[in-house]
Amino acid sequence: MQPNVSGGALKDFYKRPLRDLRISVMDRCNLRCSYCMPEETFHDNYQFLSPQERLSFDEIEEITKVAASLGVVKLRLTGGEPLLRKGIENLIARLKKIEGIEDIALTTNGILLKKNAQSLKDAGLSRVSVSLDAMSQSSFEGMSGGRGKLSQVLEGIQAAQEVNFPAGIKVNAVIQKNVNDDQIIPLAAYFRDTDIILRFIEYMDVGTRNSWSMRRVVSSAEIRDLIGARWPLEPLDPHYKGEVADRYRYKDGKGEVGFISSVSSPFCADCSRVRLSSEGQIYTCLFADSGFDLRPLIKAKDSEKIKEFLEKIWHDRKDRYSLDRNSLLNEEGKTHRQTNIPGGRRIEMNYIGG
Ligand code: GTP
Ligand code: 5AD
Ligand code: SF4
Ligand code: SF4
Repeated sequence: MQPNVSGGALKDFYKRPLRDLRISVMDRCNLRCSYCMPEETFHDNYQFLSPQERLSFDEIEEITKVAASLGVVKLRLTGGEPLLRKGIENLIARLKKIEGIEDIALTTNGILLKKNAQSLKDAGLSRVSVSLDAMSQSSFEGMSGGRGKLSQVLEGIQAAQEVNFPAGIKVNAVIQKNVNDDQIIPLAAYFRDTDIILRFIEYMDVGTRNSWSMRRVVSSAEIRDLIGARWPLEPLDPHYKGEVADRYRYKDGKGEVGFISSVSSPFCADCSRVRLSSEGQIYTCLFADSGFDLRPLIKAKDSEKIKEFLEKIWHDRKDRYSLDRNSLLNEEGKTHRQTNIPGGRRIEMNYIGG
């Protein structure tokens, strides 16, 4: 059967359109978050890509042009830490010119944001999402593997506010039970009454290194109740169908807070995201155990073939891992490790960027 494409109408097996391309530009990171790259597992048993293995800006631009011709309108640059990639602002300026691209976001841990905020804005970045899981230096160190300082991230966020990104700033916090759940109220207190949108992310079973357990998950409902008891909340309508975060506003008018319920209430039904690794593998799900290798087509500089390949991949796509995970977990007596979900070779967050 021929892929169904006309003017951005490419749909996957479950009729989900392709709208977002998330591009990892760097698998290295300057932090060692325990849920992503825990220091203990990182002695010398993990190899980062070499600079020669990473896609060049020319190659990323070419793939993005093809993706835009298939309906992609939103881009997100991720890592590892994307601000470790030299000249990232030049890439943004090039992506910004691609016809059809309406929005370019970047996910960063914020450590290098102060230095880069102005050049990112000048290059045409629409918005930034800063990952921050704690508001005390000691908790921050616990979360970041002892690397980096909370003050650097807060100064980075302040710099981003000062340069005034057109589509604003979000802060994403991953909460783990008995690890940093004491940081929920301090985070909410700090970002309330600012124009920054704080979003709490449920701790997910991504990658293979974080020894995930349901016991460590703090549900969005629990977090929302905790915040709501202090500062009453009311729901807001989504900005668009399939928005990942459920939006709420403080009833006293002090801004917005969001909840990303990837474990308790998966959003696979509207998932329009494709992911490109920094070496040129395409992943159709955050939890995929393998990707589709674009490199031979990229090296052959054959845009038509890249287009056909992407069309076919999206057309055949059946991923909805988080929904499937929940059905399996709901089966009596099953734990995460006893499900038949491929777990052995899952991609890591620092490699694909979340
Ligand atoms: P905007 O609403 O446009 O800001 O995008 P977003 O919410 O998709 O962006 P962001 O990358 O900031 O997402 C925040 C977090 O949600 C990620 O770090 C992931 O933890 C989670 N997330 C995003 N996309 C997916 C997805 O496709 N599947 C799952 N399971 N989690 C996701
Ligand atoms: N669960 C939820 N979110 C995660 N992130 C990384 N690992 C996990 C996980 N196991 C988030 C980071 C960052 C984004 C890239 O993904 O905190 O906000
Ligand atoms: Fe932490 Fe993100 Fe770096 Fe992983 S890639 S260690 S989540 S900052
Ligand atoms: Fe999309 Fe996979 Fe996440 Fe579901 S689990 S929302 S299919 S990336």
